Amino acid sequence: MEIIRTADAEPLLHSLLSLAWVVEARDPYTGGHLWRVSQFSMLLAKAIGLGKREIARIGLGGFLHDLGKIGIPDAILNKPDRLTEEEYAVIKTHPRIGAELLGAHPLRPVIENAVYLHHETPDGKGYPNGYVADKIPMDARIVGLTDAFDAMTSTRPYRKGMPTAKALEIITANLGGQFDRELGEAFIAVARAGLADAIIGHTEPHIPLQACVECGPTILITRRQLDGDIAYCRACGGGVRVRRQGGSLTVEDMDLHGDAETLAPRPDSDLIRDLVADQFLPGLPLAA
Ligand SMILES: [Fe+2]
Repeated sequence: MEIIRTADAEPLLHSLLSLAWVVEARDPYTGGHLWRVSQFSMLLAKAIGLGKREIARIGLGGFLHDLGKIGIPDAILNKPDRLTEEEYAVIKTHPRIGAELLGAHPLRPVIENAVYLHHETPDGKGYPNGYVADKIPMDARIVGLTDAFDAMTSTRPYRKGMPTAKALEIITANLGGQFDRELGEAFIAVARAGLADAIIGHTEPHIPLQACVECGPTILITRRQLDGDIAYCRACGGGVRVRRQGGSLTVEDMDLHGDAETLAPRPDSDLIRDLVADQFLPGLPLAA
């Protein structure tokens, strides 16, 4: 069923990406996660030969997949230690919360599978339904795989991200279990060929996360931040000076702490605009 192909498409896509950004605004530790999962998912969709409509649909689902995390308390979402059974039960509600929060949005049918079923795993040990293999729609299998890869290769305040090769070994060891065998193999091939390198550790094209001395790679720089600007780590509040020389981007540590105003989250409107124009609009008409 075709969902949109009209002049409504652009504002609808904007509204959906803005909605997804609420999760980034709330959780400073997930900087760039939605963008990376979206990009990895589109890369994989392309690698397995899907057409541009499917690629756009899957990329959109990747961007929205964690919407329901907005409904999970910080104390559980960011808990550095092992979760209790009760806390894990709360985490497991986020796919359903996400699907419900999409409400009557006209694009809900396009992305609902990715949002609601991205934690189902082929071995039936996933949640919320414990679906096995073919019962899990492809969009959810793709987003589930790339979400796990990004989680493994990203640094959190309480643990360092693992090298790509190690994450790929883990995927290899769990093919047919946590990960779909065919999709997993395709993703491993793509990543080993270096095609994911421009996404891993990045928050938008050509902009890698920058390292805060305290917290590791947590500082998000946007394309609007120029040489000499100050950027902040939203995990610890520390400030750094942005250095752009030639094509390179680095940061210098400053003895500076952000205030309420400078540490407030902001949507990356440029990124949202480009994603809509360059990656999602070309996939019209979108269909479930
Ligand atoms: Fe999730």
